[in-house]
Amino acid sequence: GRVDQNKRFYVASRRCMEEIKEIHPQQAWEENQMNKAKLIYGSKDRKQTDYQFVFEDQIEFIKATVINVEKHQSTSSESFISNSKLKEDRKALPIYPYKDALLQAVHDHQVLIIVGETGSGKTTQIPQYLHEAGYTRSGGKIGCTQPRRVAAMRVAARVSHEMGVKLGHEVGYSIRFEDCTCEKTVLKYMTDGMLLRQFLREPELAGYSVVMIDEAHERTLSTDVLFCLIKDVARARPHLKLLISSATLDAEKFSDYFDYAPIFKIPGRRFPVEIHHIKEPISDYLDAAVVTALQIHATQPQGDGDILIFLTGQEEIETAEDIINHRIRALGTKIAELITCPIYANLPTELQAKIFEPTPEGARKVVLATNIAETSLTIDGIKYVIDTGFCKINSYNPRTGTESLLVTPISKASANQRAGRSGRTGPGKCFRLYTEHSYTNDLEDNTIPEIQRTNLANVVLLLMSLGINDLLNFDFMDPPPSEALLKALELLFALGSLDKDGKLTKMGERMAEFPLDPMLSKMIVASDKYKCSAEIISIAAMLSVGNSIFYSPKDRQVQADNAWMSFHIGNWGDHIALLKVYNSWKETNFSTQWCYENYIQVRSMKKARDIRDQLEDLLERVGIDLTSNVNDLEAIKKSIISGFFPHSARLEKNGCYRTIKNPQICHIHPSSGLSLVFPRWAVYHELVLTTKEYMRQITELKPEWLVEVAPHYYQLKDVEDSSSKKMPRGIGLASSK
Ligand code: CDP
Ligand code: MG
Repeated sequence: GRVDQNKRFYVASRRCMEEIKEIHPQQAWEENQMNKAKLIYGSKDRKQTDYQFVFEDQIEFIKATVINVEKHQSTSSESFISNSKLKEDRKALPIYPYKDALLQAVHDHQVLIIVGETGSGKTTQIPQYLHEAGYTRSGGKIGCTQPRRVAAMRVAARVSHEMGVKLGHEVGYSIRFEDCTCEKTVLKYMTDGMLLRQFLREPELAGYSVVMIDEAHERTLSTDVLFCLIKDVARARPHLKLLISSATLDAEKFSDYFDYAPIFKIPGRRFPVEIHHIKEPISDYLDAAVVTALQIHATQPQGDGDILIFLTGQEEIETAEDIINHRIRALGTKIAELITCPIYANLPTELQAKIFEPTPEGARKVVLATNIAETSLTIDGIKYVIDTGFCKINSYNPRTGTESLLVTPISKASANQRAGRSGRTGPGKCFRLYTEHSYTNDLEDNTIPEIQRTNLANVVLLLMSLGINDLLNFDFMDPPPSEALLKALELLFALGSLDKDGKLTKMGERMAEFPLDPMLSKMIVASDKYKCSAEIISIAAMLSVGNSIFYSPKDRQVQADNAWMSFHIGNWGDHIALLKVYNSWKETNFSTQWCYENYIQVRSMKKARDIRDQLEDLLERVGIDLTSNVNDLEAIKKSIISGFFPHSARLEKNGCYRTIKNPQICHIHPSSGLSLVFPRWAVYHELVLTTKEYMRQITELKPEWLVEVAPHYYQLKDVEDSSSKKMPRGIGLASSK
């Protein structure tokens, strides 16, 4: 079957390539990834199949075998770990014996590449060692970047605990829209994006004595851009120390890039890991993962170690959590306690701590994680890893401007990292839900750096405002595709942030002040003209929170729908609805009760309020008055269009829309308040690709506004409404032909 499958795949992909002439490399890559995904799993459709024996030869699933274990009463775990215990723990870390050698190397060299297994103590210990050795004495901070917000917060919390100080004092963190530092802060953990923005205020990072770019192998867009900037700063500031660290690193490549910086290797302590592959491709990795976890729990000795499952995202994690809890409940006292611990980027802070709490005696923990647990976070006590072989990465198609989160096969490097998570504290086992053949033949060696597959508009604006104009010849470690760079420049030009000579305009300078996508920043700056900046920053804040404002519990769907409807009257559109939600909440003096009554997530609202406060400060910074004009919907809509005019679409037929520039068919997302209204013209916040291309967060517009707001972009002929006579308003199905 394998050979046939391969042949089919190649024939299909060849045909696919022929059909789309001049296929864009990015698109080809995306398609290739998707085809590989299909190849690995046979089919990506989730069928309700019962995989009773996923790893038949390794463990036997004991469906009804009675295991005579009394359900263990979980003893309340000691949440306070004593100081001396912490000190002992620090000394037991693999990095500890190399402390002096490391300090010597940092002393001797300005730039150091550091490689050491996950959990060896790089992130938590190195900044402390340097602090103790006096690197913060003359007032400079030690900054350590993390690609992920959760990692920055968790690690800062851990280090402040180890140092016995309050989080936010000597040790703090900074992530977008959340600054938990003060003047006292000397160890600052932050996302790579935050350090990048720091360059706007401190081009030479004068406040830092050491910068550690951690998890460098992740090669996020921000990390890659940081490499270029920091390399320059290091040359200008001989006393600045620069550390590039990671668990897995093509160390030579990094060393070469940083003028042949020496490589410091922390010898790892890895226990052997047994790796098992499935024999035949399966179609439902989620179910297979759950069954495998239950198999392990049921058959392996109690208390011998926890389970870590790698899944692709929040939704999958929640589903898996539900299924596991349900099945465990069904087994009742026949089986020992199994505690599910989810961890993903948007997990609320209060819930993150759970995965680090020691497992109560007699119970077992199953951690359900995205690839955040691959290297950024170390969870102690893991003995079993279940690797689904997939992760979600963002992908941008510069030709159409669509961004999508693709579920793609991981790389070999990731697969090996994942396996390694099981052998940290003792011999481990890794169960791969893909065949050995797939591992060898379908997985790429490394993941493509984000800079080569993402929208660059944001970064280009930032670099230009730092005075870097010649991006085509910029010293990137791996350069982005020039088409993506040009696309970004084109967009910035259309938004008025660049002039026709490619120089940053005053508008561009103001836009760069906002830590937002250029279109959102433009919308805010434009609201000055329409005298509605107060409303627009509320909308921007609500949009920045993501799609987590409304919720709908299964048992009260009708009430939740009614509440939702009261904010989506007529054809207000989603932006205005968000504004109404925010303003209504504000009128109740930010009442939590009001949120409950209206099926609105209070946590998201509080976040929106924080973001809005910061946007208000930034308005002042760029010299825009806070003006309110809540009843002038036209002014509000025109501000939105000033930023989002490239995202406009016209109704075609049967509820299909076509974007006006770079024509592309799309649909209104079912969650939109306009999903049954079908406005003839619409502006959308984002296009997302799930089962179809969907426009999310939509507002109706008048086509003449497009010409009024962006005359350089739209001409009358683009927006002539030829179909208007044939198509009665509001009915998308009534096309005459
Ligand atoms: O950065 P690296 O992967 O080398 O290790 P680390 O993050 O500094 O973690 C070192 C040790 O600190 C881990 O083995 C954990 O035992 C502990 N740790 C923790 O208990 N809680 C955290 N939030 C972070 C680390
Ligand atoms: Mg680390």
